[in-house]
Amino acid sequence: MSQSESIRDALNFEERIVLDNWAHRNVGVEDYRSFHQKSLEKFEEFWAGVARELEWFKDFEKIIEPGEYPNVYRWFVGGRLNLSHLCLDRHVKGWRKNKVAIIWEGEPVKENGEPQETRVLTYYDLYRYVNRVAYVLREKLGLKKGDRVAFYMPMIPELPILMLAAARIGVIFTQVFSGFSAEALASRVSDLGAKYIFTADGYYRRGRIVRTKEIADKAVETCPTVEKIVLIRRLGSTETPVDPAKHVYLEELLEDVKSNVYVKPEELESTDILYVLYTSGTTGKPKGIIHDTGGYATILHATMKWVFDMRDDDVYWCTADIGWVTGHSYIVFGPLLAGATEIMYEGAPDFPAPDRWWSIIERYGVTIFYTSPTAVRAFMRLGTEHVTKHDLSTLRLIHSVGEPINPAAWRWLFELVGGGRCPVGSTWWMTETGGILISHTPGLKLVPLKAGTNGPPLPGIEAEVVNEDGVPVPNGVKGYLIIKRPWPGMLGPPTGMYGDPERYNSVYFSRFGYFFTGDYAIRDNDGYIWVLGRSDEVLKVAGHRIGTYELESALVAHPYVAEAAVIGAPDEVKGEVPIAYVVLKADAPASAKVQEELRKWIRERIGAIAEPKSIFVVSKLPKTRSGKIMRRIMRALAAGTAIGDITTLEDEAAVEEVKAAYEALMKEIGGKTG
Ligand code: WTA
Repeated sequence: MSQSESIRDALNFEERIVLDNWAHRNVGVEDYRSFHQKSLEKFEEFWAGVARELEWFKDFEKIIEPGEYPNVYRWFVGGRLNLSHLCLDRHVKGWRKNKVAIIWEGEPVKENGEPQETRVLTYYDLYRYVNRVAYVLREKLGLKKGDRVAFYMPMIPELPILMLAAARIGVIFTQVFSGFSAEALASRVSDLGAKYIFTADGYYRRGRIVRTKEIADKAVETCPTVEKIVLIRRLGSTETPVDPAKHVYLEELLEDVKSNVYVKPEELESTDILYVLYTSGTTGKPKGIIHDTGGYATILHATMKWVFDMRDDDVYWCTADIGWVTGHSYIVFGPLLAGATEIMYEGAPDFPAPDRWWSIIERYGVTIFYTSPTAVRAFMRLGTEHVTKHDLSTLRLIHSVGEPINPAAWRWLFELVGGGRCPVGSTWWMTETGGILISHTPGLKLVPLKAGTNGPPLPGIEAEVVNEDGVPVPNGVKGYLIIKRPWPGMLGPPTGMYGDPERYNSVYFSRFGYFFTGDYAIRDNDGYIWVLGRSDEVLKVAGHRIGTYELESALVAHPYVAEAAVIGAPDEVKGEVPIAYVVLKADAPASAKVQEELRKWIRERIGAIAEPKSIFVVSKLPKTRSGKIMRRIMRALAAGTAIGDITTLEDEAAVEEVKAAYEALMKEIGGKTG
């Protein structure tokens, strides 16, 4: 296959358009390339310069040094700073004091369709609230630097407030996505050894109430380190039963705290842990990704400028949930570092009507919009009128994140939402990278935008596409995406992965000697990267990261299940969806009931986002003679592509069985089979 054929094949290139009317079309790719080259030649000085644009209590002595374990790096050593100070104190000292920081909108609406509740918090409001909460954490809950807490919080302003309050006193936090189950919460809380779980009594989602407190109650049963659950009143109802021995309301703890209390921000080391965020990998156990303080602040500061081109008159909206890294970096710390005005929305995109998002953009005059391809594809099904009835002319810049953007979704964002005026980018990054590493950079005015690509690696970032042996592949050829040099915002010291430096090294560095992203990518002749998707057993379901092994180990933990294999199958809206094949134990009851039971089991063990689209009961799984499940074959069947070599298969009948099960499904849902 020629190079151009392989690009076309992988990317549907002919469907993509290169625009002539980009704002920065007059700047050549060469300009960017030479700038990028220079940033790498003076790699350390370059990043030091970016970092020094922030305010440090104490300047750093060393830009980067190796950490205690292999491939762990310490950025800006000796420097002292605090994220809460940078996001709040710094702004309230100047003219941004009463600038709006967060405009929050709750999901429920009044009869006339207007939101029932909105909250507007200026930087000074946030500053005062964060100080009071930090006071409670330190003085009433006895938390001090290095202690760990868990947040199991919905999308309400108290979540960023808690994150900033913890950061202020050096308390390490983990935020667990509010859609995760009690077991998923418990495993994260236990791994971190958190002293408290902070959660809401509940929240609104698509017109329903989700009672997070009840889920947290269940989780703590297996979390011996947790002293109490701290509740944030969101529903305002009195019906939530509380047990004073186990629960306390934040509201009550705040009652006698002075409105102007000041908690001095802890002067943290650049290398101190800011937070741990759990994400799925290729084993059953989620990985606790560590982010440090100074390096993380630096990548966020850089990308808010370069990628989002953030200006003081912008109204910025990132539609992610703070439970994922996108919300940590680009709802909480990034925009607030940049002094932005931003929107935060509690609920579902299409509630109560399919125009909710577009009405939010119109009502607040959003200028920068950061969203996901999955959301776009879901809206595409609902018809254009929900978008076109709103005035979206304030928008000037659009980015997407989480998975590759397909041409149709790109065009929809560009034409319908952006009115053909706004650059539409696809920013590539991961939980592990802390911030965006590959993207167009409208803020640098240095790079022509090309539809559908991720863009070139950012200045100071050295990315490469390599083959199996780690040798760079020619332009246009698909390979594995690696990051060749450390970057600020990478997995932080001391161990990269919380409590597990060995796993850190084996997951990311053992294969190529450099940081392996797990993604397939192509670099084109302009040096732009096109990330194609995961090369490993990690799925992106509606942009959410789900490990197939995580699902498999949950399934085999069920008393009926002997063996399980989970693969991703293509899905028009969600990108991909999990499909499970299970072999039941001899004493398991009749199958229809079992499938329902297993669905429920997955919802309880992980959460609704991981529920397989289909669960097939089969008598055996396709395996190699050495007993390895041949996922490649199962994936090929599900994707309708050629199966390839099956000579190492133990039992070909198993392939037939999986194939038949899959074809039956596709018939049922009206899809295509291969
Ligand atoms: C995928 C999300 C293509 C990729 C911030 C990566 C993307 C994984 C893009 C990380 C993009 C993210 N184009 N693929 N613009 N952005 N990905 O940790 O496969 O939830 O490895 O972080 O998402 O997912 P995570």
